[in-house]
Amino acid sequence: MDFSTWMSGIQQRTEVALAAALPSPDLAPTRLHLAMRYAVLGGGKRVRPLLCHAAGAVFGVDSALLDAPSVAVELIHAYSLVHDDLPCMDDDVLRRGKPTCHVEFDEATALLVGDALQAHAFQTLASRLAGIAPARQLEMLHLLAAASGSRGMAGGQALDLDAAIDRPGEAGIITLQAMKTGALIRFACEAGAIVGGAAPSDRERLAEFGSAIGLAFQLADDLLDLTADSSAMGKATGKDAAAGKATLPALHGADWTRRQLAGLVAQAHDLLRPFGDSAALLKAAATFVAERKS
Ligand code: IPE
Ligand code: IPE
Ligand code: MG
Ligand code: MG
Ligand code: MG
Repeated sequence: MDFSTWMSGIQQRTEVALAAALPSPDLAPTRLHLAMRYAVLGGGKRVRPLLCHAAGAVFGVDSALLDAPSVAVELIHAYSLVHDDLPCMDDDVLRRGKPTCHVEFDEATALLVGDALQAHAFQTLASRLAGIAPARQLEMLHLLAAASGSRGMAGGQALDLDAAIDRPGEAGIITLQAMKTGALIRFACEAGAIVGGAAPSDRERLAEFGSAIGLAFQLADDLLDLTADSSAMGKATGKDAAAGKATLPALHGADWTRRQLAGLVAQAHDLLRPFGDSAALLKAAATFVAERKS
């Protein structure tokens, strides 16, 4: 199957799984549930679920077993975007081609959407999951918590906010990227290996692959912020430079960034070499992440 056909299938599958996992707006509090569904459904590339499914495919895992970790990581990601867009953070009004959550609803609701989505992610991953041993679930819960917290996404967001003042150099920027974006992407890849019962060395290989692709993902985002237009991205662009945010494209320029991206994809592909054809989808996913246009 070619990658884009496979990708559409996983995106649709993820949409259905997310819709089923989220609380119904028929339940109180209706407005909060509507806002949670607004923030999660009907948009987004679903890159983290795609990577989780492609990583599981390396070990021959049935897609049904990958829905829970994919939904969990996508809920955390959606929450991070809702909070990232708040006036106290990036102050953005457009996300996934729609008004941001706090614009469509209000700031207090957007704050609570983030809180509730985060809790819901862990509730989903901690539910009774047929076909996944409880010890593997526990490992994923531990990893997702670490990837989301002060040494992962939330900590990276803190460093990112400071970056306009601290002006970190290349090493500092790479650290903040690895935390704010890389950690959840690394989790998505490692979770596929955990569900697949991978040997420790293979699992580590998938985690390293996730780290390389996580860096590539944020580099591409920063490059697109510099070079793409808002309508293609469904969100504002040119904001990093306007905010005086330290990014690698700002430091080294677009050509250097494209060369870095190619290097990270080559590194990621090298890590998959021992898996041969079973890693074909994951390999294609790595290329997609670096070469995406939105
Ligand atoms: C945007 O993430 C924020 C970053 C971590 C760079 P995505 O580009 O994955 O956003 P969606 O989910 O497709 O909207
Ligand atoms: C956000 O990074 C990373 C998150 C953890 C949400 P950005 O602030 O660059 O993401 P966009 O460009 O608003 O999507
Ligand atoms: Mg931000
Ligand atoms: Mg932002
Ligand atoms: Mg950005």
